[in-house]
Order: sequence, then C-alpha cells, then structure tokens
Amino acid sequence: MSIKAPKAFKWNQYLVNGQLKNWAGDFETVYSPMGEELENGKVDKIVLGEAPLLSTEVGMEALEAAKAAYNHGRGAWPTASSEDRIAALEHFLELMISKREEVSQLLMWEIAKNEQASYQEFDRTVDYIRDTLNEYKQMERDGSRIGNKDGMLSQIRRGPLGVVLCLGPYNYPLNETFCLLIPALLMGNTVIFKPAKYGVLLLTPLVEAFQKAFPAGVVNFVFGRGRTLAGPMMATGDIDVLALIGNSKSSNALVAQHPKPNRLRQILGLEAKNPAIVFADANLDTAVQETVKGALSYNGQRCTALKIIFVHRSVADNFVTKLSTAVDALALDHPLRNPVLTPLPERKKVPEMEAYVKDALAHGAKQVNQRGGRINDTSFFPAVLYPVTMDMRIFHEEQFGPVVPVVVFDDLEEVMESVAASDYGQQCSLFSENQSTIAYAVDNMVNQVCRVNINASCQRGPDYLPFTGRKDSAVGTLSVHDALRSFSIRTLVAASVNQKDLVRDVLRNGESNFMTTDYLL
Ligand code: G3H
Repeated sequence: MSIKAPKAFKWNQYLVNGQLKNWAGDFETVYSPMGEELENGKVDKIVLGEAPLLSTEVGMEALEAAKAAYNHGRGAWPTASSEDRIAALEHFLELMISKREEVSQLLMWEIAKNEQASYQEFDRTVDYIRDTLNEYKQMERDGSRIGNKDGMLSQIRRGPLGVVLCLGPYNYPLNETFCLLIPALLMGNTVIFKPAKYGVLLLTPLVEAFQKAFPAGVVNFVFGRGRTLAGPMMATGDIDVLALIGNSKSSNALVAQHPKPNRLRQILGLEAKNPAIVFADANLDTAVQETVKGALSYNGQRCTALKIIFVHRSVADNFVTKLSTAVDALALDHPLRNPVLTPLPERKKVPEMEAYVKDALAHGAKQVNQRGGRINDTSFFPAVLYPVTMDMRIFHEEQFGPVVPVVVFDDLEEVMESVAASDYGQQCSLFSENQSTIAYAVDNMVNQVCRVNINASCQRGPDYLPFTGRKDSAVGTLSVHDALRSFSIRTLVAASVNQKDLVRDVLRNGESNFMTTDYLL
C-alpha cells in the first residue's frame, strides 16, 4: 500500500483578544518525521506545512489581552456565573468534536503517533473535558450553600488565580495541553497558550473554536519559540500561573525570569526516570510484557515510561533473554499501519540514543538484542542494554526514547539507594507474585514516588487518579478533580449572624454570581 501524505498548508493566523489576526513575519516549515520513499530508493522529507514564528510584540499583545479580560479578577469571565462558563465550554466541546478527523490525522503525521493512538488521544481528551465539566458542577453545587457556625455565616467557593501561561508538550500535544487549559478556563482564569516545538499544526483546526466559544481575551493562542514569547511574558511579572508540561530546565529558566516568583503558581509535569523492579519471585512473562509496553509504547516518549529496569540477579539472564526476543519482535513502521514503534519527531533524538548506547558499551554493558540501532535520521530501533551500572549516563538521565537499560540487583537496598539519589520521583512498577515481597516493596517505594504499580507498567490514567511526582518530576497535582483545585484558590464571604437579613436579601435577589445558593442542575 502506498501511503499518501496530506496536502501541505500554510497556517498564518493567531488568536488575540478574540480576533483571528494574520501574521506576515517569519514562519517555520513543519516536516513529518516520516519520509516519502522515492522511485530511486531515496527517502524524501514530507513537508506538512508552515507555522508562524510570532514576535515578542505579538506575545505582549496576547498578554495584554489576557490581563484585560481578567481585569484583576473583575472581568466578565472571572466573575461569570458557573452556568455561563459551562455553556462556553460545552459550545467549545461541540465545535472540537467536529474536528476529530482533521486533528487526529495531523497529530499522527506531525508527531508519528500511531493512528489508533492518535484517535485515542482525541477521544480521551473529549472524555476528559466532559468529566471535568461534571466535576466542576459538583464543586459548584458544594459551594452553593451558606455555613452557619460559631455566630458566623459563610459561603466558600473556589476562585480563579489570574492569567495562565500554558505550555504543552509534543508527546501529548492535545491531551496534556487540554488537561491544563480546560480546567484553567473553567475556574475563571484567562489563558495564553503556545504549542510545543513539535505538534503545532494539529492544533490549528481548533483555533476558530476557541474564538467562537469564549469571550474576547479569555483564550489567546500564539505560535512560535518559547524564548521569544514565553520568556518576555514571564519577565513582566504579569503571569500568575505557569502551567507547563515539559522539562525542569525550561520551567526553571522561565520561573527565574519572573520578578515576583512568590506570586507565581506553578503547575508542572516534568521529567521522570520511572523504575521497574523485577523480583526473584516475579512472573517473568508478565514482567517482560509490561516492560515492553511501559518502556516502548510510543517509542518510550512518555513521561510515565519505564526508563530503568532493575532485575534480581537470580532471574536476570532469563529476563533479559525474554525481553530481547520480545523487543526484536516489535514492528517499527509508518503510524498508519499501527505498529508499536514509529519514527521520532525530535530531529536530534537518533544521535542522542546512539550516544547513550555508545557510552554504556564503553562502560561495560552489551547491547543484547539484535535489531537495536539507527535505521535512518528519524528512526531508531530500541536497544536493550545489559548490565547497566551507575557509571553510565543512561543510569541517571531521562532518555525519553527507545533505549531500555537493565540493571542487576541482589538486595532491594541497592535499588532504594539509587532511587533516593535520583532527581526524579514520579512512579514505579513492582513485579512479584509474592504478597510479602509486594508489601515490603510498596512500603519502601510509596514515599519515593507518587504511584506504585503492581505487576503493571506505569501510566497516567485513568484520569480520575491523581497524577503528580516528587523532586524534579512535578509541581502540583493533576486529575479531573485535582486540576480544578490546582487552577483555583479558596475564597469566601463571611458575615456575623446579625447580618442575616442582608445576606438573605442578597441571595433572594440573585444579583451576585458568587453569593448564590442556586443549585446547578
Ligand atoms: O508524558 C506523560 C504522560 O502524562 C503519560 O501519560 O501514561 O497516559 O501515557 P500516559
């Protein structure tokens, strides 16, 4: 089957203050990680289109629009009734659903996520928005009552924080971005959103939906480089929330530019080095199957990927043989054919993976599977490295790609020492069929990471579960429920009971959106 690339297009718009404006400055060419095979056997790059590289001035325009719409918390959006905000989000959702095909296809072509997973990312995001709306309604219902205790009447709700700068990642360019954007909006914040370096065009079919569904200035959508747009915005001190999924190097650099960092709320999903620990009493087939899934789904480009595998010496050789066979049996192909492995969108990724392998081999590891290594400029077949030791870079660094390091251990204490020394603390996976082993390991791990998975790979979902991390892996907690809390603050009205008549009149006359006991149906 010959695969036809989609027709390239030049996207030249951005959304600021409710207006779709045309950009006539610099653009970047967007290439697909997949090449096109030519008749002469050579592979040609596929151009998907062009995207704007907006200037700092445009970034500032977006910031001013978001500030004006927020108006120090007095703007129409932050003071809107919950019904009005829900109606806007529902309108957006309806418009978004009509773009499923376009967005999912672009997602696949732009970041090489297999077709099935690309559609799943879209559908999961739609479900997330629906669940968030339901959770928000419940939160509002809980806030629709007056407390009366110790001679004090009170009404407690959650209020917005201000202007949010939202920066998403390339690996989940739709889902992870919207898991920030949607709760931020629903809570009454105003937003400036900029996509990552890769995974840009797939968001363009949704720009108009943002324009139609939200009042002017509530969502501002810009395109370009972080250092041109995000850095200068942070330097003004006018960003109240930095919502970023990426790495700590970028978030630290941005936070350092904010003149009043104590006023800045950070909601960050950062890098991780999630370990799998395979004990002597593990079911090795389960451990291998989950390791392959955990380490190599979407080529290991997930923050939750298993990035280091500790195996007990008594089963290590057996485990590694089975793992190598399972890895070598994987297909690396065009995402349209739905393989596990696909090309890599980051242009420097293949040499980075090669460098990890070279460093490990120089320090005594072997590449134990046969197929591992470079295929072309954007494809790298996973390399299984064994035995990996602390002298190797891959032991400490997040590879975020298709290299699987296997470390041998004799006693859990050795693993615990390296987990304690690691800069990361997101999740781990334990493999054992023995309850004592699991009980002991769980108690050792729960205070090192924020989710312990038993006989299963690490993952973020289902989305009602809290997603967070220790150390350099995260700031704040995300989930359908927690994200609404992360993007808001508790705020209340209090009055002595001797003000009962006045409070009753305010509630009865229905002029306040905050002081109301109307039950949201
Ligand atoms: O990149 C990190 C993602 O949050 C991982 O999500 O576990 O659903 O793949 P996932």
